[in-house]
Amino acid sequence: NIGIAITGSGSAVPETSVDNEALTALVETSDEWIATRTGIRQRRLANPAESLSVLAARASSQAIASAGISAADLDLIILATSTPDDLFGSACQIQAEIGATKAVAFDLTAACSGFIFGMVTAAQYIRSGVYQNVLLIGADILSRWVDWQDRSTCVLFGDGAGAVVMQANESDRLLGFTLKSDGSQNHFLNLAYQASCQELIPNVNISQGKYHPITMNGKEVYRFAVQKVPEVIDKTLFQANLNVDQIDWLLLHQANQRILDAVAQRLNIPKEKVISNLANYGNTSAASIPIALDEAVRQGKIKPNDIIAASGFGAGLTWGAAIFQW
Ligand code: ACO
Repeated sequence: NIGIAITGSGSAVPETSVDNEALTALVETSDEWIATRTGIRQRRLANPAESLSVLAARASSQAIASAGISAADLDLIILATSTPDDLFGSACQIQAEIGATKAVAFDLTAACSGFIFGMVTAAQYIRSGVYQNVLLIGADILSRWVDWQDRSTCVLFGDGAGAVVMQANESDRLLGFTLKSDGSQNHFLNLAYQASCQELIPNVNISQGKYHPITMNGKEVYRFAVQKVPEVIDKTLFQANLNVDQIDWLLLHQANQRILDAVAQRLNIPKEKVISNLANYGNTSAASIPIALDEAVRQGKIKPNDIIAASGFGAGLTWGAAIFQW
């Protein structure tokens, strides 16, 4: 069996930081409401020059350097995103930008679960012996699609990119994973295409619409997350033959501090083991797990051989967990 190791990480966030107070100029809200309900204090927002591919390429170059390889060594690039610069996909732009000349590149969309879905996809290519060196990116610029007049969603999101290098390895450090989807709850969280009928020529109607801003039923998404995330982590621990005390770090999609706290409590994981950077970045969708991972590694929190239980959850609905050793 071919093993898998994560050998490097990187991250990039936009320069502009916007605190809660600044949002009171847009909608009726307060720093107190946002901070107590979500744990968010500020978020980074991308300016027009900070495109998704620019942020992703910066995070990728860091990850490649920290893995000690060069871009030309990469066999595969997977970009997990819901907000590509180009609906045809942005992975190839990143491939060109970083000079990964021999890599195959494609986008993968699973909203806030995208990074975990990407990790499992990358793992299949490595385990089967097809590819050895994979760059996995999680990047999103949700500020493009937020309704900035809707206070129930606009305060939650931020922009950014994170990346890891996954490589074939003698010992297997990807200890277990589980992926889940439930389309019957799709309507709780959407960035949907809104069709607008156009009669192209007589009797031929086509749709030339636009994407709707993000809509969310916050209470239902909250309920879903605190129920399903502990379940999927439990299941993955069992599969990996680990008990919860062996987890060094709980690394969840950074959606809401109350979700992080509730999941940790249900799993009986002490607060000190929960990685959180929500206060600084808000919810960066597919980027949140790799940004938090990269920061924790660079801060020296995550150390070699630590066991990390990561879980993503979000639109689809989709959710999943991956347990890996650093
Ligand atoms: N400022 C002030 N008041 C607000 C704001 C705001 N920004 N937003 C909503 N309110 C008001 C509401 O209008 C409502 O007022 P009302 O009682 O007069 O009607 C009141 O606050 C309570 O609103 P609720 O929606 O019930 O607030 P709740 O306690 O559920 O918190 C929140 C909302 C923070 C969104 C919560 O439901 C949540 O975190 N849900 C999970 C969302 C999430 O994690 N989404 C992302 C996951 S998937 C992904 O990442 C894409």
